[in-house]
Amino acid sequence: MTDFKIERFPLLDSTSSYLKRLADEGAEEGLVIVADAQTKGRGRRGKSFFSPEGTGLYMSFLLRPKIPADETLFITTATATALSLAIEELYKKSALIKWVNDVYVDGKKVAGILTEASFSGKGELDYVVVGVGVNLTTKFFPDEIKDIATSLGEDKKEELLSLFLSEFSKIYEAFPSRDYFKEYKRRSFIIGMEIEILGEEKRFGKALDIDDDCRLEVMLENGEKVFLSSGEVSTKLKKIR
Ligand code: BTN
Repeated sequence: MTDFKIERFPLLDSTSSYLKRLADEGAEEGLVIVADAQTKGRGRRGKSFFSPEGTGLYMSFLLRPKIPADETLFITTATATALSLAIEELYKKSALIKWVNDVYVDGKKVAGILTEASFSGKGELDYVVVGVGVNLTTKFFPDEIKDIATSLGEDKKEELLSLFLSEFSKIYEAFPSRDYFKEYKRRSFIIGMEIEILGEEKRFGKALDIDDDCRLEVMLENGEKVFLSSGEVSTKLKKIR
């Protein structure tokens, strides 16, 4: 198993920001930072991640993977897969993935993943900091997310952390094998759904598939087929199962 070393803090600005500072100073692969609360928890696309004290798992881990820079996305999908497996085993609830990296239970988001990479001067991958936030017992969410977010309901933080790290290790150590990707796709509930593509102009379509490069294949309303890359767009489900 990947040698994970866990450091815990009562309060940080953001476990990912803190770990990036350590990574820049040369910290080794496998360092895991966990905080009971974050004052500036960060989500994707510059959003904040609601991180109230003692009600969630807020953690970041450091990898120095020997993979091509353009394969960083597979760290994210591996994390989503491992997290879903761990949640499902511990909470006995079906955990599904919204392309590309949100984990949903009972039709609502319980966890988000933020992957941040740093590159060497030659454009090679230097390190990746993966931040994971899971709502465990949070009861009240801010207005902007209260309709789409939920919690797992019970505080099994330590078991979840350790099971997640062990599931992730199995996938990571098998890299560059992408065998796990079948499991990722199996859990991707966006396939077959009507979606709204958020971008400069609003577009609507039906998600058809996720290809081997993790692009979302969508049939637009006008009959045109497009492949969306996660870095370029985000999607909104028109309705959630
Ligand atoms: C998202 O939903 O857009 C991603 C959320 C990622 C949140 C986690 S919480 C631990 C780590 N530290 C952060 O500041 N963000 C990630």
